[in-house]
Amino acid sequence: MTTTTTPATAPTGTTTRAPGPKGVPLLGSLGPWRRNTAEFLLGLQRDHGETVRMRLGPMTVHQITGPDAVRQVLVNNHANYVRGPLYEQFSVVMGKGLLTTDGEYWRGHRRAVQPAFQKNAILDIVPNIVTATTEMLDEWEVKAAREEPVDLMTEMLKLTLITLSRSLFAYDIKPSSRILKRIVDDVVEVMFRRGSASEMMPSWLPTDRKRKITRIHQVFDKIVADVRESYARTGEGSLISLMEEAKDPVTGEPWTDQELRDELLTIYLAGHETTAVSLCWTLLSIANHPPVQEELDNEIGEVLGSGLPDTQNTDALTYTKMVVDESLRMHPPIWIFPRAAVGPDSLGGYDIEAGSSILLSPLVSHHNPRHWDNPLAFDPYRFTPQAVKERPRMAYFPFGAGPRQCIGNTMALLELRTIVTMINQRFKLSMIPGHALAYGSPVISLRPLDDVMIHLTPRTPTGPGNGTAVPAPTPAPPLTCPVTGGKAQLAD
Ligand code: HEM
Repeated sequence: MTTTTTPATAPTGTTTRAPGPKGVPLLGSLGPWRRNTAEFLLGLQRDHGETVRMRLGPMTVHQITGPDAVRQVLVNNHANYVRGPLYEQFSVVMGKGLLTTDGEYWRGHRRAVQPAFQKNAILDIVPNIVTATTEMLDEWEVKAAREEPVDLMTEMLKLTLITLSRSLFAYDIKPSSRILKRIVDDVVEVMFRRGSASEMMPSWLPTDRKRKITRIHQVFDKIVADVRESYARTGEGSLISLMEEAKDPVTGEPWTDQELRDELLTIYLAGHETTAVSLCWTLLSIANHPPVQEELDNEIGEVLGSGLPDTQNTDALTYTKMVVDESLRMHPPIWIFPRAAVGPDSLGGYDIEAGSSILLSPLVSHHNPRHWDNPLAFDPYRFTPQAVKERPRMAYFPFGAGPRQCIGNTMALLELRTIVTMINQRFKLSMIPGHALAYGSPVISLRPLDDVMIHLTPRTPTGPGNGTAVPAPTPAPPLTCPVTGGKAQLAD
């Protein structure tokens, strides 16, 4: 339960301190934050409004969820909002990459790699997506014949990793994908599980955390070496070629080995897990909403028949796009991200002091009842062109916005639409009863807490879709939004 310290609406024409929870001496609101961060932040919007001030230990933090104020932070006054201390924990593993840097260094690097992510370049990756997905679906045929369930998150992580690596680096990472899954788990632990006994040891002691950091760097050093060796041999890979040719804008020197490793590691880490999480939630949402499944089947049947997606036809899959957009609304993989205010500002009519931290949460904004009727319902029709036009643009920002908008957003959307389409052509998915859905303690991305075990029902005995689905043998458990209730819940 939170207590308001100041009125929830700012008096017109004046600026003042935003309302928020009182918290307790020294710790502020760290207790409820640690117990269940997502539920706590949703509660702040419900109880105090769109601009909320709180203390987390020594830090003053503002949660900003109103569309105008979000735009002010990310677009209109973006220069006033830098990455700040909350982003520093990413640097432990990612070093100085696009995600963690600011200013001229960031600008030079972003400019150097941007061409590989432009729409025309990204459309070229469709064949890679199709090939990698076909390989996975062929393996699924074998599993389905044996009535073997699949672990959806693990499968999606492998698929997005392989696709990213082949598409941007022309490098086949498939043989290492199992090791990398473990490494990604280590990355999350190293960056975010603070306060363990090993953290308090003297810095020269070889702790478990340091061993993990060393292992992560060793694995990525090997991948970087392999990617560079493969590029030297073949000259292929849209992103690695830009990285190899990039020059420092001031000195004119090529990127150092360290710069190249940090960026490569950033792209691998930022690019595959997010898309995999979103695929997982999208497929579950479809499986648990039969009318959505039916409409999707009809569209895919009409647009593609039994053919595969390609660069021409994916644009015509308008309902599929809306399903993906709605899934990114309900379950935005990057559900929260921070900034630090360099100078003072006013957001939502309230004072923001220089030095205070800002929290932006797509999850909380995407559940704001002021802009989303019945926000817990899964409804792709929120994303018809008309509905989008009538809503404030920044009520929805799964990829951020402004100059720091996700560099991979076009790629991610293309992957999501293509893979969802192809899976639906060949299989009907149903969740195996007894597997609860929960977010867990979502430290970076909004992953399901437990394994999501899926039963596969082939659409036809012979492969790609003729649109007639074999009914699933077990009814799927209802999927209600894990944020605030229903069968699935958030867990600590
Ligand atoms: C569904 C998938 C994805 C989601 C939801 C997502 C979300 C985001 C968000 C919200 C940000 C902005 C963070 C901030 O402003 O602090 C971001 C930045 C970034 N993303 Fe993504 N992302 C996705 C896929 C990808 C992919 C496929 C790649 C690369 C292949 C990628 C690479 C990056 C990078 C490098 C940044 C930092 C950009 C910069 O600051 O210049 N992301 N992403």
